[in-house]
Amino acid sequence: MDYRIETKCVQGGYHPGNGEPRQIPIVQSTTFKYESSAEMGKLFDLEAEGYFYSRLQNPTCDAVAAKICEMEGGTAAMLTSSGQAANFFAVFNIAGCGDHVVASSTIYGGTFNLFSVTMKKMGVEFTFVSPHCTDEELEAAFRPNTKAVFGETIANPALIVLDIERFAGAAHRHGVPLIIDNTFATPVNCRPFEWGADIVTHSTTKYMDGHGSAVGGCIVDSGKFDWTRQPEKFPGLCTPDESYHGITYTERFGLAGAYITKATAQLMRDFGCTQSPQSAYLLNLGLESLHVRMPRHCENAVKVADFLRKHEKIAWVSCASHPEDEQYALARKYMPNGTCGVVSFGVKGGRAAAETFMGRLKIAAIETHVADARTCCLHPASATHRQMNDAELVAAGVGPDLVRYSCGLESAEDLIADIAQALEF
Ligand SMILES: Cc1ncc(COP(=O)(O)O)c(C=O)c1O
Repeated sequence: MDYRIETKCVQGGYHPGNGEPRQIPIVQSTTFKYESSAEMGKLFDLEAEGYFYSRLQNPTCDAVAAKICEMEGGTAAMLTSSGQAANFFAVFNIAGCGDHVVASSTIYGGTFNLFSVTMKKMGVEFTFVSPHCTDEELEAAFRPNTKAVFGETIANPALIVLDIERFAGAAHRHGVPLIIDNTFATPVNCRPFEWGADIVTHSTTKYMDGHGSAVGGCIVDSGKFDWTRQPEKFPGLCTPDESYHGITYTERFGLAGAYITKATAQLMRDFGCTQSPQSAYLLNLGLESLHVRMPRHCENAVKVADFLRKHEKIAWVSCASHPEDEQYALARKYMPNGTCGVVSFGVKGGRAAAETFMGRLKIAAIETHVADARTCCLHPASATHRQMNDAELVAAGVGPDLVRYSCGLESAEDLIADIAQALEF
């Protein structure tokens, strides 16, 4: 039975049998015992299912990944040590040296750096396009060696809503998948697979955990993208893997399992960016209340945005859930119940005014964090995006005056009163 998102948040992924623990057990073990080397050999060859070493798979992590998989409506999922690792794996699983990827220019600064600096050193080229680019500009970004398109449902911190259907259409016309980082919306507010995306990633560190407890990431495959239609484009999935005795992932695991099995068997084996079972347990506690928290985060954001829009010291406000926001129609299409709890705005007076304002806030703490039960704020141009030059900052939608204000679960009235007093300078 396909339950609703609320039920999946609470009960998805883990189904204990008679007399088994009601809560997901924390399997705090690096390794697993077997009676014979032959059995162990079968596990190594991916001929049998089972656990052998927690760098690759662990029962606690798998149960939580299975829950997120159900929430997104996918066929397979894996947890990673962070959102950075999830985005790296998601792309590197299908794009290597000599390949090319099209990405939205407004993606999170850490992902932008991963792509434009670190993965560039690995031989993967990226073309960044504005999420507002014309169809012609989007088409022109593709090359014969393009292997994927990447974007964020709601960009961090510019809060630009991606037209997922349009980007999915372009990706599919060029025979490549659309990878969507769904961190800010969460599957409670948007399920990108329903709009044509093929792979979804998350920094579970944000709303999914929701309490600032554990850094983590997740990758989910929709199982819908047919890698075998152009096998020469995706040799890693469609030709034998010599490091696994010549198995071909698409043949052995089908479209439903090939992508995640390859990412686990190769990338997790070689890079080891695993999430700890303790962290996965904490993540699951967050997931159990995600559907209750998200509406409140969104409600607080709209109230805060409404106050800011009317304040004389505020230059501009971005909150796509606000009915007067220019992105409202697009946001309603993909996220009819609200976008997220983050509001971005500019304080008149630029960078200096932004810093003075933030220093005067009493409830919102200045943190390199976002999407948490406790309200926090950040000046991205001095923090998460400080590695960008001015042109890149403009392309990312991150002006020097931008304040990223992440509404927590406190009283909206108290947040507004705090903002009001902080603006009195
Ligand atoms: C949209 C988005 N993706 C990915 C990341 C990276 O996640 P993590 O910090 O868990 O590595 C972040 C972090 O802020 C993010 O906001």
